[in-house]
Amino acid sequence: MEIKSSEFVMSNSDVAKCPKSMLPEYAFIGRSNVGKSSLINMLTGRKSLAKTSGKPGKTQLINHFLINKNWHLVDLPGYGYAQVSKSSKKVFQRFITQYFKNREQLVCGFVLVDIRHNPQPIDLEFMQWLGENGIPFGIIFTKADKLKPKAIENHVEAYKNILLETWEEVPNYFITSSSKNIGKDDVLGFIDELNSN
Ligand code: GTP
Ligand code: MG
Repeated sequence: MEIKSSEFVMSNSDVAKCPKSMLPEYAFIGRSNVGKSSLINMLTGRKSLAKTSGKPGKTQLINHFLINKNWHLVDLPGYGYAQVSKSSKKVFQRFITQYFKNREQLVCGFVLVDIRHNPQPIDLEFMQWLGENGIPFGIIFTKADKLKPKAIENHVEAYKNILLETWEEVPNYFITSSSKNIGKDDVLGFIDELNSN
């Protein structure tokens, strides 16, 4: 699939105020700084459609982007960022969980994980929570440009092994690099398939 048009629609902190249209949507979630906003820019071929930063905690709201006039990509704040105050962390967590639980338009969430790290409890817990709540999700490994192919393979294997301890199968997963434009066709192809179902 080719993205021919992408536009920012709105930002808000309340799932009830998200766009009312029933267009299918796909949301990116993961730790702060993992590369959620950068991935949106890579997929859409836009340099700064979604705001990115070297400092974690940049995205603080639910951001909707309209793609090809018929589906939404959603950029979310990161979880697990120690530097935001405890109270704002709670607010974040509340609207992130409300978004996933209540957003009927959500077709699939993508949990982004940094390919450089071993499986982290916070990511596994979030996947567990999505699974328990029956929310479909895939995994997107980010920053693949930072590792050699063998190391990428090892880290993906480590993830698979851990997930298979609690799940019968591993969710769909994708290896990406926003800085090297890796994985774009895989992710967009997957979304295209879901959109046509
Ligand atoms: P928050 O909004 O704070 O939750 O972060 P985020 O997950 O949206 O991350 P963001 O896209 O802002 O990227 C964080 C940092 O990682 C930036 O400095 C990006 O340039 C860098 N980054 C993102 N993707 C990649 C990648 O594929 N490769 C490399 N090398 N750096 C990346
Ligand atoms: Mg962001």
